Amino acid sequence: MTESLTVRDNRTGTEYEIPIVDGTIKAAELGQIKASDPVSGEEGAGLAVYDPGFVNTASCRSSVTYIDGDKGILEYRGYPIEQLAESSTFLEVAYLLVHGELPTKEQYDAWVHEVTFHTYVHENIKEFMQGFRYDAHPMGMLMASVGAMSTFYPDARDIHDADNRHLQVVRMIAKMPTLGAWSFRHAQGKPYIYPDNELSYTANFLSMLFKMSEPTYAADERLVKALDTLFILHADHEQNASANAVRSVGSTQVDPYSAVAAGVGALFGPLHGGANEAVLRMLKRIGSIENVPAFIEGVKAGNERLMGFGHRVYKNYDPRAKIIKRTCDEVFEVTGVNPLLKIAQELERIALEDEYFVKRRLYPNVDFYSGLIYEALQFPPEFFTVLFAIGRTPGWLAQWLELTTDKEQKIARPKQIYTGARGLDFVPSAQRWA
Ligand code: CMC
Repeated sequence: MTESLTVRDNRTGTEYEIPIVDGTIKAAELGQIKASDPVSGEEGAGLAVYDPGFVNTASCRSSVTYIDGDKGILEYRGYPIEQLAESSTFLEVAYLLVHGELPTKEQYDAWVHEVTFHTYVHENIKEFMQGFRYDAHPMGMLMASVGAMSTFYPDARDIHDADNRHLQVVRMIAKMPTLGAWSFRHAQGKPYIYPDNELSYTANFLSMLFKMSEPTYAADERLVKALDTLFILHADHEQNASANAVRSVGSTQVDPYSAVAAGVGALFGPLHGGANEAVLRMLKRIGSIENVPAFIEGVKAGNERLMGFGHRVYKNYDPRAKIIKRTCDEVFEVTGVNPLLKIAQELERIALEDEYFVKRRLYPNVDFYSGLIYEALQFPPEFFTVLFAIGRTPGWLAQWLELTTDKEQKIARPKQIYTGARGLDFVPSAQRWA
């Protein structure tokens, strides 16, 4: 039996039957619902959906990531995040997201080889990055350098060729840590370190961040594993704000560097990936456990938000936050406990009992504890979101690949409800100002 929705327009008394497919109705179907203007008698425009922030609008079909916000489920290509975080590697997860299935041994080796040998960037990109001011925010530098890559790889504009798309995907996953690490070194006035292709993806990233004069940088394996796990947790999150930015810009058929640069920009915001930086600044500002109750009262009074809490989709718990809490313990074994942890735990304890947070179903999200780990790894807060961006790159690209081969997709172009003036007569400035 075909499922459908019967809608009665009380303005006209007309009934419409609208098919329900996959639990949705096509917004365009509502366009047939029209009524005449009661004053002029003219036929009005078709009914549209008003949905700021897309709270109840599906923008695409996707087989990349599944989330059940009520049950706290997150799966990449059907595999639970808990299992991937426990037993996979970031590059294997990247392969899974991009290709849709897990690699064979040969496929994995070839993939690692490809990504490893695309880690270098053109020397001019280095000079481009060196042109930033000493205090440039690393996310601004990352966004600009990802965008700049579109000029180094003009072939990327041929988005209709599958091999070409694959090449850009490999390039971007490979080069993101290089650009990210250089934005970090730049702020410190240290020389940029070239990739060491003898190292794993994440160990090489740490090398580009922290190496000085030693011939090979040997990061603690436990820290490499922890950062790799964080990358896995951040790798995709279905139609979040930055994936939506990538898709929206990508829908114009621009090259993927330009589309991903838009994703980096969206991630920068404090309501999205920028929350991890905001959490750390918030914890530092609170300063000690005694100040937590007063801070919570301020949040409840609407003075500010408890950063790292709440999520558009997760309403019981964020499964990534649970894994991150465990990773926290593993990192602190190596680095010593971050003193801010106690404040974070007290905030969580109070918030989980307090009616304000319980009623609004606000729980710690992925960013609540990740900042503590990043700080323990000696990253400054402004660098946290760059780490998120490196992890999210395969997800953005998987979403972009899906978009470019989806026949149902169109240029993203929402409607508006116009609220401004109409039909005014323009008076030239010479007359208006006379
Ligand atoms: N602290 C205090 N109150 C909050 C918070 C918070 N963190 N989040 C939501 N609320 C309240 C909000 O004031 C509103 O209350 P009321 O109904 O009385 O007006 C209610 O909860 C619903 O909030 P909303 O803004 O309508 O919810 P949303 O789904 O549009 O926003 C969110 C989701 C993540 C933007 C929001 O919870 C938030 O701003 N959280 C803090 C920033 C943060 O941690 N972001 C990271 C998200 S996870 C990682 C990522 O995506 O990058």
